[in-house]
Amino acid sequence: MISARSLRQTGSVVGISVGEDATMHPAPDPWRVTDNGPAAGSDLTPASVDDRAFRNVMARLGSGVCVLTTTDPVGRDCGLTVTAVSSLSLAPPLLIVAVRHGSFVHDALYVAEGFALTILAAEQLDLARYAARHRYPTDTDDFSRWPSVRAAASGSLVFPRGVAAVDCVPYEFVDAGDHVIAVGRAVLTSFGCTGDVPLLHVDRGYYRPGERLD
Ligand SMILES: Cc1cc2nc3c(=O)[nH]c(=O)nc-3n(C[C@H](O)[C@H](O)[C@H](O)COP(=O)(O)O)c2cc1C
Repeated sequence: MISARSLRQTGSVVGISVGEDATMHPAPDPWRVTDNGPAAGSDLTPASVDDRAFRNVMARLGSGVCVLTTTDPVGRDCGLTVTAVSSLSLAPPLLIVAVRHGSFVHDALYVAEGFALTILAAEQLDLARYAARHRYPTDTDDFSRWPSVRAAASGSLVFPRGVAAVDCVPYEFVDAGDHVIAVGRAVLTSFGCTGDVPLLHVDRGYYRPGERLD
């Protein structure tokens, strides 16, 4: 007889249908992160996953695109294209953004009054590309090509042709792997944003959403 465990080890169990015997179709083991075939190791051992496999899986997660803006210690504007953004809490209103250690805005985030996030419109693809370009530590940003306003609390630039924007003051910084999770407390959300259709990013490409499904 084929046990539930051996089914899992051969990668045959792909899902659970309602009403099926749960002992034959155990819930997926959350530690077993693989993109091809069965993972090595026992059920109690976290499976390792190589960079490429992990990137390939996460590339399939579509998301909106934001530009995170802040100011560096000498008051210069700087920004970074980010998709690792999520709302976190309503009371107080918190959001999180993950920023790689060593990235252009990283050090500035810790000393700035705060940061702003502009959720980009599809028409702002050029801004997304600009804020995602490779920079050397001595480089500076010049956002003068894009209409902007300055957010009151953080002093960061906001791009009102985006679909929405939020100004944040720092709440907490949490180190996680090669990123820091910056938790911001939202203090202002009204910037008169005029953007209509959001810019999306999935499968390593930028998209404009085209079809509403429900
Ligand atoms: C669509 C997209 C989303 C990104 N999301 C993030 C993010 O959430 N956090 C982050 O630190 N970097 C993110 N990046 C990377 C930065 O925008 C930027 O490309 C990178 O820091 C440049 O790195 P380099 O100077 O080491 O080449 C993203 C880039 C792109 C194109």
